[in-house]
Amino acid sequence: TGGVMLNITPEELAQHNKETDAWMAIGGIVYNVTEYLSFHPGGEEELMRGVGTDATKLFNTVHSWVNYQSLLKSCIVGRLKTIGNSTI
Ligand code: HEM
Repeated sequence: TGGVMLNITPEELAQHNKETDAWMAIGGIVYNVTEYLSFHPGGEEELMRGVGTDATKLFNTVHSWVNYQSLLKSCIVGRLKTIGNSTI
């Protein structure tokens, strides 16, 4: 990831947990998935399970092969600020 990236805290991420305002962190990057919700092949309800959270593990459990970086490249909000060595 290059360029200037906003640092998003887990607290800020947690506030965007609605269908009309849906953020999700995957692999250390925070995405605004609001527009993607209605396109998700697994349905809105499934995608909503990870909204407002670091959904990396959940995402990888369901479909680690899906290229979210490409699908969501226009939806980047910033990077997830982590504490210590907790990671993606
Ligand atoms: C499919 C869940 C996030 C893209 C699915 C399916 C489930 C699911 C259960 C299977 C649907 C079926 O086969 O009937 C979830 C959960 C997520 C999540 C729980 C996070 C909380 C995402 C994200 C993306 C994505 C962020 C892309 C940006 C896809 C795609 C498929 C899919 C492309 C079809 C995969 C295939 O058929 O191989 N998802 N999803 N998902 N999801 Fe997600």
